Amino acid sequence: MEEKEISQAVIGRLPRYFRYLGELKDSGVERISSQDLSELMKVTASQIRQDFNNFGGFGQQGYGYNVEYLYTEIGRILGLDREHSFVIIGAGNLGRALGNYLNFERRGFIFRGMFDANPELYGKEVRGIRVMPMEEMEQFVRENCIDIAVLAIPKNDAVAVAEKLVHTGIRAIWNFAHVDLNVPEGIQVENVHLSDSLMKLSYKSAHAGSGF
Ligand code: NAI
Repeated sequence: MEEKEISQAVIGRLPRYFRYLGELKDSGVERISSQDLSELMKVTASQIRQDFNNFGGFGQQGYGYNVEYLYTEIGRILGLDREHSFVIIGAGNLGRALGNYLNFERRGFIFRGMFDANPELYGKEVRGIRVMPMEEMEQFVRENCIDIAVLAIPKNDAVAVAEKLVHTGIRAIWNFAHVDLNVPEGIQVENVHLSDSLMKLSYKSAHAGSGF
């Protein structure tokens, strides 16, 4: 299927479709109408149809969508039809929590290595993965064809570490450090700021009239 330029807003909604469809598939549902999916996901049926039309529509209206097909196709669009290897840089609270999260594997993201600058952490294990010194990071990433690096280190060092990663052939950085990274085109960066989400929650709560 030919894919046209898709807006970031649509791409941002795909993981949620993927998640719901995965649950439907796991519970044995074979077909679902946009109306039923709309009620389940609390988005309008027209939004769903518009989103899916970006990819050719995925199925006959009236007859509903084939859940397995839709799940597979959206997974393919999200690049989940193949495995991704990732390393975590920073074996602190956040890095360890991410390393311990098993569901990434379910989605095809395989945790392969962990690095830290603190010698006291070398050799400690997170789910069977040994924390290695930063000096070994570049060689490890190159030799193990790692595609994603997770940055879970303080912002002061994140830019320098990202620069090192650029030369390893890494394809993407999942950046939790509170700093913007300047990387060449061709390397994708996704910034995650949990506090932004919390501030949105605060806004919603404040404007719902309850305040804190
Ligand atoms: P932490 O202090 O528990 O762990 C940080 C780890 O990074 C330590 O083990 C430290 O030795 C290591 N480290 C420091 N400089 C390094 C370097 N140059 N190379 C390799 N390792 C290095 O902190 P925590 O709670 O794990 O948070 C990590 C970072 O992530 C913090 O900067 C924090 O602000 C940020 N953070 C971001 C969140 C987000 O939503 N974006 C949420 C939570 C934390």
